Amino acid sequence: MSSDKTILVFGATGQQGGAVARALRGKGWAVRALVRDPEAEKARQLAAIGIDLRKGDFSDLRSIENAMSGAYGVFSIQPSSGQGAAYGMTDEQEVRYGKAVADIAAASGVGHLVYTSVGAAGKGETGMGHFDSKTAIEEHIRRLDLPSTIVRPSTFMEMLMLPGMGLEKRTFTFLMREDQPLQMIAASDIGRIVASIFGDPERFVGRTLDISGDELTGRQLQEVFSKAAGNPITYNRFSDSFLDENPFLGRLAALVDDGRCAGSADIPALRSEFGELLTLAQWLSGEGRLLFARALQAADAPVALR
Ligand SMILES: NC(=O)c1ccc[n+]([C@@H]2O[C@H](COP(=O)([O-])OP(=O)(O)OC[C@H]3O[C@@H](n4cnc5c(N)ncnc54)[C@H](OP(=O)(O)O)[C@@H]3O)[C@@H](O)[C@H]2O)c1
Repeated sequence: MSSDKTILVFGATGQQGGAVARALRGKGWAVRALVRDPEAEKARQLAAIGIDLRKGDFSDLRSIENAMSGAYGVFSIQPSSGQGAAYGMTDEQEVRYGKAVADIAAASGVGHLVYTSVGAAGKGETGMGHFDSKTAIEEHIRRLDLPSTIVRPSTFMEMLMLPGMGLEKRTFTFLMREDQPLQMIAASDIGRIVASIFGDPERFVGRTLDISGDELTGRQLQEVFSKAAGNPITYNRFSDSFLDENPFLGRLAALVDDGRCAGSADIPALRSEFGELLTLAQWLSGEGRLLFARALQAADAPVALR
């Protein structure tokens, strides 16, 4: 793998960007990261593995131009309004920043931009601002004179560990029905896939890939969680009345029902192109173990992790 070529990674202190930056370093690339605060703990961790930190912000176009100067590749990710108002990114900002990163890459003569979108993008208007934003960014990127690849990750395994879904009460509640498959992916596999894409531009430029590592129905999720916890965990889909009262989750559930948010990756084909991808069971017993233990922590009885 080339180490004389530099890749600029956005969001490297976050889940996807962090996984991409680490995977690229692991393959010998020179990696630059645009970070808002180079003194933050996560930024220092990046510097410690040889990543060149450049201070910047999506709202400061000059900082992006400077960070991109001389870079061969760019990994573009923007946070979204779906992460909650506290994050401070509106749908309009997401679109503006996603387009600006691509425009600057095209103007700077970047050799390969990889944009991370979402599984529900490009499948018709969804009515969810933080999905339709990504469809708009994708379309903009394809119109530019810029070698690019788009990945569309499904639900992150990490997201299943967030508080509020009931793991601590051993009743996990989520979006799919008992017999309805939902695809998911570990953030680290997004990193591995993106690093492979940068390593083989002839193969991947011009492509859009839906990416996932596992696909589980509600019933299968119940089995996987119960086995990993060593105790029964029951699965329920959010009740219809709850979904009626929560328009955001109600719309997401409708998009799972119509397939657009359920994930449409060809997982066997991805495995043959990128090698093994983590199943949820593997993730729970490996890199996701601590997150799972924390999510279960408030349980009444001791839980033995396997
Ligand atoms: N959750 C899912 O299941 C899922 C599935 C598919 C797609 N997605 C999409 O994935 C995206 C989130 O990815 P993620 O989880 O990797 O994000 P994340 O962990 O929240 O990280 C966001 C990154 O963006 C950086 N950032 C925030 N505001 C910035 C600004 N103004 N200028 C420059 N950098 C800024 C953050 O840096 P700081 O350290 O400075 O905050 C951080 O590095 C969203 O668009 C979401 O819709 C999510």
